[in-house]
Amino acid sequence: MPDVVAPRFSQRSQWAKDQAISFLMQQAVENRDVISLAAGLVDEASLPVIECGQAVDHLFDEAGKARQALQYGTTAGSDRLREQLRIHLARQEHCTVDELKVDTSRFVLTTGSQQLLALVADALFDPGDICLVAAPTYFVFLGVLNGVGARTIAIDTDEHGLRPEALETELARLNVAGELSKVKLIYLVSYYENPSGVSLATERRRQIVEIAKRWSRYQRLFVLEDAAYRELRYDGEERPSVWGCDDSRDTVILAQTFSKSFSPGVRVGYGVLPAELVGPVCDLKGNLDFGSANLNQHLLATVLSSSKYVPHVADVCTAYRTKRDAMLQALDREFKDLPEVTWLRPEGGLYVWLSVPDRIETGFASEMFHLAAKSHRVMYVPGELCYPSGSPRQKKNQMRLSFGVQDTAGIAEGIKRLAAAVKQRLSQN
Ligand SMILES: Cc1ncc(COP(=O)(O)O)c(C=O)c1O
Repeated sequence: MPDVVAPRFSQRSQWAKDQAISFLMQQAVENRDVISLAAGLVDEASLPVIECGQAVDHLFDEAGKARQALQYGTTAGSDRLREQLRIHLARQEHCTVDELKVDTSRFVLTTGSQQLLALVADALFDPGDICLVAAPTYFVFLGVLNGVGARTIAIDTDEHGLRPEALETELARLNVAGELSKVKLIYLVSYYENPSGVSLATERRRQIVEIAKRWSRYQRLFVLEDAAYRELRYDGEERPSVWGCDDSRDTVILAQTFSKSFSPGVRVGYGVLPAELVGPVCDLKGNLDFGSANLNQHLLATVLSSSKYVPHVADVCTAYRTKRDAMLQALDREFKDLPEVTWLRPEGGLYVWLSVPDRIETGFASEMFHLAAKSHRVMYVPGELCYPSGSPRQKKNQMRLSFGVQDTAGIAEGIKRLAAAVKQRLSQN
């Protein structure tokens, strides 16, 4: 017997291996002079330094209030914040708090909305169960699904988001194949999708809820509406949430966050859950942390109950609108002589989705990625990561470009470098 025997890790830890997000973070750290259009971080300059400072002062100007915030909270989160969130959601839904038809017990506060997504996946999926995702989609959630051993099936989208007919067709196919009983969840990012910037068309929202209810034959087929970018709207139509189309409030799980509109460092996200899911999600969360940071929740409740939040979000949107326009203008300028390179114009969010000719692959191992990162010092997120791996719908010639972190000069320079890299790559074929 050797002195040191190798550790043996769980199946789940194997499923969670080799995450793209870790590779990207590592690349960013190792290549500091690279202009990153990959990082999904938010705009530094508009982080709410003053608003948070004032909220901390307010919270700490009375010992009783401060002690409450410094104590453990509850698993589902601070009642004070959950009450504020009902008001916040009613404002977003353009209704009264009563018309929301959910009380605070349906609100579960999490460490960013990422934790909510992971808890929902944990609560629903046994290995081999199926999640249908609007593809391309948020690649970190694809990692979560792999991590619980779920099977992920890509559903076709177009420039108006998930196609209801494609969803219907896939459900019918799974039914015929005897696999409908394994389908537990439909996942979509409803506003300014990460990565494509696309928003789900208004008329499709109700259709998708209706399809989920109609195909709930073996068990409830939930829809997870990830509304992470909802508040980052720069122009275009203000759309109702998918959650708002679920009149009985038993099918759609709404995931929202303050990371994009306020501060990701505060790590406050939340879910508005169908009644039956609250218990399982809180039980799992109890095993993890029995409550996200109570202090941060009190801080955010203080901000929301002041008059500071709404104008702050307006300022954030102004800053991002300028950056989005800078990226779109730079793309027009730098790619004007390459009509085979195309991109979508987002009405909000943080991303522009760019396609190069089919023959040019953009993945981490590709010549394109290497040329961009090593020779031209610019980085993007390869589009192929945003599809379930091996899916027949997976495209390999796309890039996600973020205008969140760079200032307008950095965006212009980043796109200039990217165009040079694409031109060099095209000249090789
Ligand atoms: C679509 C989407 N959902 C959820 C998240 C998770 O964000 P957070 O945990 O900061 O709320 C992100 C983060 O970038 C995202 O892009």
